[in-house]
Amino acid sequence: MKKRIFAANWKMHLGPGGARRFLDAFLQEYRPSSDREVWFFPSAVALEAVVERVRDHSGLKAGVQNVYWESKGAFTGELSVPMAREAGAVAALVGHSERRHVFGETDEDTARKAKALIAAGLTPLLCVGEKIEEREAGKTLSVVERQLGALDDLGCDALAGLTVAYEPVWAIGTGRTATPSDAAEVHAAIRAWFGGRGVPAAEVRVLYGGSVNVDNVGALVSEPEIDGVLVGGASLDPATWLRIAQAGGD
Ligand code: PGA
Repeated sequence: MKKRIFAANWKMHLGPGGARRFLDAFLQEYRPSSDREVWFFPSAVALEAVVERVRDHSGLKAGVQNVYWESKGAFTGELSVPMAREAGAVAALVGHSERRHVFGETDEDTARKAKALIAAGLTPLLCVGEKIEEREAGKTLSVVERQLGALDDLGCDALAGLTVAYEPVWAIGTGRTATPSDAAEVHAAIRAWFGGRGVPAAEVRVLYGGSVNVDNVGALVSEPEIDGVLVGGASLDPATWLRIAQAGGD
């Protein structure tokens, strides 16, 4: 059975001490559910603290928020995939809208990162999504397909290693959420894109992200097209995150 994923993107919050305190509080109350995994994307400096605490919990995983595609060398400030793997990361965000729109990363940069991760056996959590003006111009699906298109040469086996998060840019950190049915339409298009490249559409995991909170998570994850959520702001408080990560659990 395809497990749901509840992923916390801590962005530039919580250093090693904050991450330890968060997980100590979270783990006191957390009850694993066989239908889901909970992923944490801390800052790179807090990764080891998270890995240490999630290590003995099979449903909990740690990843990084960004990687560079070269494995080593003179790239000051960058983090390589082998380093992230050595430190215990099993996944990495790629193509997050803040990387695309604040740091100017292109579809091609995103694809290179995804390829480096897949080659090393880590799961890229590829974020795609349109800006408000693109949605209003009716371009949502073409933008998402263009973002996916950079991965076209990956081949079916590698594509099957990706997890996707649909995160409309206008919903991130704004309090505006796509309705479950709006998200479902885009999720279905993402699945169809993979299906067209030989990846069984039903096996592709597509999460929703953008202002997910305690009040809307239940409706989102009960939509069959939505395989989980990627959460920023509401993942920073352990009690709130616990309620989100356990929403609709068995
Ligand atoms: P948000 O962020 O939940 O604060 O909207 C989501 C994300 O950026 O991944």
